[in-house]
Amino acid sequence: MYENKIYNLFNKEKTKVPLWFLRQAGRHIPEYYEIRKKEENFVEFCLNKNLIIESTKLPLKYYDLDAAIVFSDILMIPWSMKRNLRFVKNFGPILDPMIPGETKIIKNISITTELEPLRDAISFLRSELPKHISLIGFAGAPWTLACYMIEGKGSKDFIKTRKALWSENKWFTELLETLILFISKKLEMQAKAGADVLMIFDSWSHMIPNNFFDECAINPVSKIVKILRSRDICVPIIGFPFKAGSSIIKYSFESEVDCIALDWSVDISWASRFINKNIVIQGNLDPASLIPKDSKYLQKNVLSILDKMSDRRFIFNVGHGLTPDCKIDNVKKVIDIVRNYKG
Ligand code: CP3
Repeated sequence: MYENKIYNLFNKEKTKVPLWFLRQAGRHIPEYYEIRKKEENFVEFCLNKNLIIESTKLPLKYYDLDAAIVFSDILMIPWSMKRNLRFVKNFGPILDPMIPGETKIIKNISITTELEPLRDAISFLRSELPKHISLIGFAGAPWTLACYMIEGKGSKDFIKTRKALWSENKWFTELLETLILFISKKLEMQAKAGADVLMIFDSWSHMIPNNFFDECAINPVSKIVKILRSRDICVPIIGFPFKAGSSIIKYSFESEVDCIALDWSVDISWASRFINKNIVIQGNLDPASLIPKDSKYLQKNVLSILDKMSDRRFIFNVGHGLTPDCKIDNVKKVIDIVRNYKG
């Protein structure tokens, strides 16, 4: 196996702290807009092999990173399921909302055919990227995809989704089960194409009513992990139950992921004490701390995270995606601090 710091962590080696950034390929790098201009429609952009390759590599031009996350979007699964996905400027994603209990759930599509450019881009990237850079493939978690599919857009409370959970539970379960199969297929495809690590984003897990957390977050992810392992996909899997509060502890023991990504609201010392000791932790700098021009507290915050994690296998990252107004110089400063850390 080549020297790949992130990968080695999962072989129980405590290497120097590896790092990468959630949403590192996006809109905080002005050059992204040059690439983005080449295809106006964001879905088409995510289906263009060359543009996927170019934007995945972009952050590596600016930063000394240990991983590249393949450029795509979690909503490409609902798109494959013919939910008429479009991205509206200054608004975000819109889909045709599903009507709980009524709409037939599409089951007979081939994710590998629909997302062939993604597969081809990963194969190319893996052959081209330096060996020490881990290539990360990803998918949205079933709950988060269901949220977008039922609501038809983002929402502050996902009330339609939660109502469907109570009133159309059988239908809801069927939707989650279908998504589990598609997500597993997409992740399997990415690993077979060359992704070294996989990540599952549950961006709306904090919308799950507590008594449904097992049913909607933990069990679906553990089913995905089991399906992948049964298909001989051995790469490490990172789970990201965003803002799930104290439920992250149970998630760390039962979801069967190899690494848990922590959001910026988590007290990382508390988490480290109670989270499954056998898994790696990733996180959790507040991405907002990378916005101010003269970020006074940056050094202190980064060192505080590193000190708290010095006794375990840890991947440095932000606790949610970099925002468009994040400063490149701040990201560079963080990388310097992590690289020079002697703890
Ligand atoms: O740097 C990277 O990580 C690039 C790959 C990536 C994108 N989306 C590209 C993107 C990844 C890993 C995602 C995941 C994603 N997409 C999530 C999970 C992570 C999280 O933020 O919680 C979610 C919830 C989405 C859904 C989504 N896609 C939204 C809500 C939006 C619009 C608003 C926003 O956050 O940007 C998108 C569009 C999107 N996906 C853009 C990018 C670079 C912006 C598109 C553009 O205008 O150029």
